[in-house]
Amino acid sequence: MNQLTSSKSGALKGIFTVPGDKSISHRSLIMGALAVGESTVTGLLEGEDVLGTAAALRELGADIYKDDKNVWHIHGVGIGGLKQPNKALDMGNSGTGVRLLMGLVATHPITVTFTGDESLCSRPMKRVTIPLTEFGAHFSGNENGTLPITVKGAKMPLPISYKLPVASAQVKSAIMLAGLNTPGITTVIETIPTRDHSERIFKYFGVPIKIDGENIQVTGQTELTPRKMAVPADPSSASFLIVAALIKEGSDILIRNVGINPARTGLFKTLIEMGGDIKFENERQECGEDVADIHVKYSELTGITVPPERAPSMIDEYPVLCIAATYAAGKTVMRGIEELRVKESDRIAIMVKGLKSCGVDVEEHDDGMTVSHSIVKGTIPIKTSLDHRIAMSFLVLGLCAENQVTIDDGSVIETSFPGFVDLLNSVGANIHS
Ligand code: S3P
Repeated sequence: MNQLTSSKSGALKGIFTVPGDKSISHRSLIMGALAVGESTVTGLLEGEDVLGTAAALRELGADIYKDDKNVWHIHGVGIGGLKQPNKALDMGNSGTGVRLLMGLVATHPITVTFTGDESLCSRPMKRVTIPLTEFGAHFSGNENGTLPITVKGAKMPLPISYKLPVASAQVKSAIMLAGLNTPGITTVIETIPTRDHSERIFKYFGVPIKIDGENIQVTGQTELTPRKMAVPADPSSASFLIVAALIKEGSDILIRNVGINPARTGLFKTLIEMGGDIKFENERQECGEDVADIHVKYSELTGITVPPERAPSMIDEYPVLCIAATYAAGKTVMRGIEELRVKESDRIAIMVKGLKSCGVDVEEHDDGMTVSHSIVKGTIPIKTSLDHRIAMSFLVLGLCAENQVTIDDGSVIETSFPGFVDLLNSVGANIHS
């Protein structure tokens, strides 16, 4: 446990970058591990979640290392070439890591046990084991479908056509990855669009993939081309700095090289509608992804009703939106986000409880929350429940609070944003242990 306290800060100023995109980092390592030959990755997020995926891929036979210039090298085993690991794969806190790798091994003739920390072992896995069973894989675990789970991959996988019952890029990607070692065409039908990093990186590594309306079709058992990947900075990580600058009077920051894939920018759109001064500069494409520098200045915000259909494009950003909402005039209504209850924590319940304990006027709904403008008085340490985004959100709350805000455990921030506290302090924040 590493208790951290955030106190009233000065204006935030500076030009900087934030760590690499978590979703793209996991996928870069996985695709590199499946290509024949050497792929390289720059800008990889070196957070615990992604390092856990690298360790798991090594167990599955890939050679992965970082050189002294911070370039990651991956020598892939080729599709179909994964080897039987000698031990259970502990995926720590990472839902993306475990769900994507379950997809990957489901169509290889190996048996793999997955486990994780207390948070990950309580998250639903049936959403991936059900479609992966259709490929011919077998899963054994407990009745609830939670980790630990042992996957016996299909020896002769059959292609499937599967309509996603839940808007989830992790489930979509698990099926697409299973399709890579399956003969024929695997189809995922996605009625509500989610982040499309897998589609983009599949194309970049030369996988035959066809996207036709709601249908995503992957042709399996083709050879992947090793590539050079440059991972952009994570828009979800940038969001904490963006909200911090918007709420702290006098702030003016520029965050370089941030991913602005439209399937990820729902929070930016929402904050602009609330009156936020956020500008994309130097927009460009890199390795199949959209990238820009983001310029943010302090703004007087006004609450809005966030359109529920926007949820998949900002699914990880609601905790930090609650912080912006606390300092915005009026009410901010967030509905249609019941998926938040099965993230690293029940993010609706945990945010509501934490905000209430700081004196914030917040109402809990089955499918979301409504936050009203409030004067923040930090009190008892906020319980972060092994959830990095809860931890970072409450530290941002403290920057403008009447009294300081304390969280019970900041160590979990390492899963996605190593160096968060130092970076925030270097641009003007006041966070200490
Ligand atoms: C992710 C998808 C989202 C997101 C997670 C990363 C991905 O999860 O919350 O942080 O990389 O595919 P769901 O697919 O469960 O919505």
